[in-house]
Amino acid sequence: MIKAVRGTRDLLPPDTALWNFVEATVRDVFRAYNFHEIRTPIFESTELFARGVGEETDIVAKEMFTWEDRGRAESDKGQSLTLRPENTAGIVRAYIEHKMWDRGLNKFFSIGPMFRRERPQKGRYRQFFQIDAEIIGPPSVGSESPARDAEILELVTTLLDRVGIAGWTLELNSVGCPADRVKFNEALRAALHPVVGKMCADCQRRAITNPLRVLDCKVPEDQPIIETLPRISQFLDEACRTHFEQVKEILNAVGIPYTLNERLVRGLDYYTRTAFEFTHGALGAQNAILGGGRYDGLAEALGSPQPAPGIGFAIGEDRLVLSLAATAESVQRKPDVYIAPLGAGMDREAAKLARELRRSNKDLVVELGDESFRKLKKSFEAADKMGARYILIVGENEVKADAFALKHLATGQQVTVPRAELAKRIAHANGA
Ligand code: HAM
Repeated sequence: MIKAVRGTRDLLPPDTALWNFVEATVRDVFRAYNFHEIRTPIFESTELFARGVGEETDIVAKEMFTWEDRGRAESDKGQSLTLRPENTAGIVRAYIEHKMWDRGLNKFFSIGPMFRRERPQKGRYRQFFQIDAEIIGPPSVGSESPARDAEILELVTTLLDRVGIAGWTLELNSVGCPADRVKFNEALRAALHPVVGKMCADCQRRAITNPLRVLDCKVPEDQPIIETLPRISQFLDEACRTHFEQVKEILNAVGIPYTLNERLVRGLDYYTRTAFEFTHGALGAQNAILGGGRYDGLAEALGSPQPAPGIGFAIGEDRLVLSLAATAESVQRKPDVYIAPLGAGMDREAAKLARELRRSNKDLVVELGDESFRKLKKSFEAADKMGARYILIVGENEVKADAFALKHLATGQQVTVPRAELAKRIAHANGA
């Protein structure tokens, strides 16, 4: 038997109803905040991620699905391609490629699969889905403003409320600008020098290549040492400090609670200033539902001829669905009516009726049985099993009278309804 590849999974009904509920809800929220959908390719040139996300990050160093193109055209041969591990770099690439700075402030969202070669476990997959939002634009339209950071964070809380996730924690930090980080990295290197020998192998490597990443370490034995390391807040310059204060002031004013976490440096190199994660207790070890932050230098690092500061976040949709209180059953639409043809030649009549009902009210869920069942009892069983609200009996007498027996399955109540009134009658009790 051929099975789905390790770390990938099939999303099956009824769970897909939950996914659709989440996506429909977030689309509504994005519309209300004037965000517009962008769809970028799921593979890009490897260089985009190497330059965008950073060569020294775990994502680029260990987790990407990369291959060399075997294209027929000479120009394609040997090109290194990668399944996108995240979508901020792709969106910024598209922004530059299509010279979107002329359009002022761009608010984008995208929903789609990402790929990382991580060790699979609950909430961590090799193909997973992200709901991504980005605000990008030239500084002249306020893309650098702390108002944007606060707007993005407020948007996240509205999204979580609307899909029904309570009990989240917003962890917030400022990682400063690149110059602040150079100083911070130097201080970290110096502080790590005498103690790093006692730390895990990853930390020993990071202490040399990218000391900031030591703060991401989850190894319990390393934690007491990490607690003694310098803090990024001591290295923020005046402008970064003020920016962060202003973000916090707006969050306080709109009533969004947050926890400051100075160790939150995020696993991608493009971040500047505001960095954040939303965590949720229901998730266990992989507790980040979403992460994001500001990336003021990314566009230029990817070749933009002009600055395009930005800020955004990506929700792990798999994890969001895992932390939902709603169940698939509660959001899945069951058939409003099961049409049961009774007797020879009735498939034709039932098909006509199904078409009429489906066309007269697009919100009705109509299931069509078939006359091979012969006995009405079997149709009733089928209707019951799928949770239909009504069963509609289509027999010779009904067709002659042009009025049909409509039985409410829960109450057993049966009425005869003229063809012209059927759709209204079925929709009525449902509000459909
Ligand atoms: P990230 O923190 O790498 O950020 O990923 C965002 C979210 O994607 C995580 O919080 C998590 O919920 C989900 N996620 C990541 N890896 C996996 C996995 N292997 N399985 C399941 N879920 C996963 C980014 O990707 C940035 N591009 C976010 C961003 C947008 N920053 C600015 N704009």
